[in-house]
Amino acid sequence: MSFAVASPAAATHSGSLLSIQDISVPQVRDLLVLATKLETMPHRERIAILDGRKVALLFYESSTRTRTSFELAAKSLGAMTTLVSDKSSSIEKGESLHDTGVTLRALGAECIILRSNYSGASELLARSTGLPVLNAGDGMHEHPSQALLDLRTMLEWFGTEAEVGETSLQGKAVVITGDIRHSRVARSNALLLGRLGAQVVLCGPKALLPQEALQLAPGIQMERDFDRALTKADVVMMLRIQRERLVGLDLDATEYAVGYQLNERRLQQFAPKALVMHPGPMVRGLEIDSAVADGSQSRIERQVTHGLAVRMALLHRAFISSAPEDLPAA
Ligand code: CP
Repeated sequence: MSFAVASPAAATHSGSLLSIQDISVPQVRDLLVLATKLETMPHRERIAILDGRKVALLFYESSTRTRTSFELAAKSLGAMTTLVSDKSSSIEKGESLHDTGVTLRALGAECIILRSNYSGASELLARSTGLPVLNAGDGMHEHPSQALLDLRTMLEWFGTEAEVGETSLQGKAVVITGDIRHSRVARSNALLLGRLGAQVVLCGPKALLPQEALQLAPGIQMERDFDRALTKADVVMMLRIQRERLVGLDLDATEYAVGYQLNERRLQQFAPKALVMHPGPMVRGLEIDSAVADGSQSRIERQVTHGLAVRMALLHRAFISSAPEDLPAA
C-alpha cells in the first residue's frame, strides 16, 4: 500500500478518532452517556439521526467484531454503508490509501472507518480526505474504539457506569497480558485506563514485552511473572498471540502457554474474583482456555455487545457532536 498524501499538513476533522489521546476524560464520559442513550432509544427515532448519510468501511485487514459492529452501528442510526476491502477492490491493483480515500469521498462518503496494518494510516487518511476518520485499528499503533468498549465493560462490572471521571478506576489494577509488543489494544487501553485512575500492569515474556513498553503511558508497571500479576488483578485482559506479527521472534507456543495461559487452575488460585476480558479473536488453548473464556468471570461477549453502542456514539460524534444534551432524554 502506498502512503502518498496530497497535503500532509492538512488538519484532521474534529469528528475523527485517530487515537484515544484525541479525547479528554470528560469527552469519554460524554461518549459513554451518548452510547447508553443511543442504545436505549426507540429504533424509529434512532434511524432518523443519520438518515441517508454515507459511511465507508475501508478494511485492509481482516476483522469480524469491529467491522460488523461499525456497520451495524451506522445502519442502526439510519446511515448507508459500503464496505471496501483490500481483497476485492482496486487496492489489490496497487491503488494508494490517499487515492482510495478521495475516491470514496467523490462517491459521497462522509465518514470513513479504517482498519489498516500500517501504524499511522488513519491519520494519513484523515489528512488526505478532510473527512472524519474513525481508526478501527492501525497496525501496532492504536485501536481507540476497542479501549472505549473495554472501559464500558469494566465500568459495568464494577457497577460504576454512571461515574466516569478521573477516579472511576481508582484502586483497580488492570493486568494486560500477552503480546504487548504488537498490540494496538494494549496501547490504547494503557493510554486510557491510567487517566481514569487504574493501575495498568503489563505482563508477558521479554520477547513480547520489551522494557521500552514502560514508556507506553505514564505510571504503568511491568510484571513478568503472570501468577504474581494475577494476585493483584481486578481485571485481567488477555491478548491474542498474533502469529502474523511474530516473524523473526523465537516464541515456543507450549512454553508460552505454561507461563502465560489463563486457565481455570490459575484463575481460581490467583484471581478468583477478577473480571476476565479478551478483545478477540481468541486462540483458545494458547493464551486462554475455554473454561475461562466461557466461565462466570468472563465478559468477553459483553465486550462485543458494548462495541455496538460505543461505535454508534462515535459515529454520532463524527457527524454531529459528542454532547449528550444534543439528544432527547432516553
Ligand atoms: N477486537 C477486534 O478488533 O476484533 P476484530 O479483529 O474481529 O475486529
